[in-house]
Amino acid sequence: MAVAQQAPINFAVMYATHDAFRRDMRRLAAAVAAGRSQSPEVRDGWANFKHQLHVHHTVEDSDLWPRVAAAVAGRPADQKLLDEMEAEHAQLDPVLASVDDGLARNTPDLADRVAELIRVLGDHMKHEESEALPLIQDACTTKDWDAFRGAMARKQGPKGAAVYFPWITDEQNDTDRKAFLDTMPAPVKVLNKLFWESSYKKRHLWGV
Ligand SMILES: [Fe+2]
Repeated sequence: MAVAQQAPINFAVMYATHDAFRRDMRRLAAAVAAGRSQSPEVRDGWANFKHQLHVHHTVEDSDLWPRVAAAVAGRPADQKLLDEMEAEHAQLDPVLASVDDGLARNTPDLADRVAELIRVLGDHMKHEESEALPLIQDACTTKDWDAFRGAMARKQGPKGAAVYFPWITDEQNDTDRKAFLDTMPAPVKVLNKLFWESSYKKRHLWGV
């Protein structure tokens, strides 16, 4: 049954996080094409990408899909979609391992391995945005969504937040940045602007 009479859930944080993964995959592909895959900055960018993806999917699996599953109990088609989300997360593991191996050994097919990652993760995020987010909007409450976001914040912790926020706002246009930061407490915006962005930029992840 649809949840009635509540403000729509704001998915800005989800779209912003997915866009950061897409941006990093473009940077990885560009670095490989330019023969820069072995540089320390590309290694750092890849390590951070893997960490952010691990956090994102771990918390979706532990604190989002189970809440949605409880909300759609008795709706087999919707439950099937949630099974697909978990299965797609699992399908990514060998694809990530393949890029890891390709980077470590600088294999001649590294560009193909990266293209496969772009395809598999890109398809998954598109699927999540086109089907899972509308289902969450339909079946869940803002309380469910806030609980998921709380779990995400706990998993990142203060140290993680200091990297996650500037990683998201890196190259964001003004509209997307505002949509993302408007969902955050005011002190976070100040910390990001004054401290976190400058520390993050000094790392020159991906060599940019
Ligand atoms: Fe997601």
